[in-house]
Amino acid sequence: MPERYAVIGNPVAHSRSPWIHAEFARATGEDIEYSRIEAPLDGFERAVREFHAAGGRGLNVTLPFKGAAFSLCESMSARAKKARVVNTLILDQGFGDNTDGVGLLRDLTDHLGVELAGKAVLLLGAGGAAQGVVGALLEARVGRLVVANRTEQKAHALAALYPGMSARGLSALGGEEFDIAINATSAGLAGAAPALPAGVLRKGVLAYDMVYGRETPFLAAARKAGARTSDGLGMLVEQAAESFFLWRDVRPQTRPVLEKLRRELGGG
Ligand code: ATR
Repeated sequence: MPERYAVIGNPVAHSRSPWIHAEFARATGEDIEYSRIEAPLDGFERAVREFHAAGGRGLNVTLPFKGAAFSLCESMSARAKKARVVNTLILDQGFGDNTDGVGLLRDLTDHLGVELAGKAVLLLGAGGAAQGVVGALLEARVGRLVVANRTEQKAHALAALYPGMSARGLSALGGEEFDIAINATSAGLAGAAPALPAGVLRKGVLAYDMVYGRETPFLAAARKAGARTSDGLGMLVEQAAESFFLWRDVRPQTRPVLEKLRRELGGG
């Protein structure tokens, strides 16, 4: 009998996680089954308990439940505790982790060839997606990390959790130069881009959008300004690999899966 895992979110129909984990399972010979669960917005905890009671071993948690998953855990990794958002659950242990930060880091370093140490990094957004990656960016010893958010107060609240990071409102970014601009806002999902002052996106900048499988207005603006661009598909595959490792103690190869997924999505 395969052991059961799933991604839980709302909406979740678009999620590529089942495809990715099926590829990992095939490549490593692990006998797992990985499905999707769309939980009602007010029914996350119940859906988790039902899946566990039915024999489920682990869950990936996506929008909008990463904060709720944090509240549900009996124990968790140090990185998840700090981030206050959880994307991976080991159900028998009541254990939570967050693999988004390491996923982003591995995409930047292993797939995009970016050396993070000493770089000036701008993180756009202060919601769950941003919260999940701050710790990893600081551990990579970036030279400067600035979180900028439309609602400035939320940027300050996030920066207060992490010494070494500073906070701004989006409109206060004028005149500052960065090497890497990471879009962790959900603006792209609504066909919008965070309103950035001119000059933030320019030649020499890597503009990275955590959204995947589409050219967001943020990436389109970055390309127009001469910046190098990347969507978040590599981060998706890398965070999945880290979750797979937590559950199965086997580390799948990511490059062939990322390449195949890009071909599937028509990204070349
Ligand atoms: P997630 O878990 O994806 O981060 P979230 O917690 O709802 O989702 O946070 C969404 C983030 O995207 C917030 O930082 C939000 O900014 P506000 O705090 O000002 O709401 C940001 N965001 C969403 N739409 C945006 C837009 N059109 N322009 C700029 N920022 C936007």
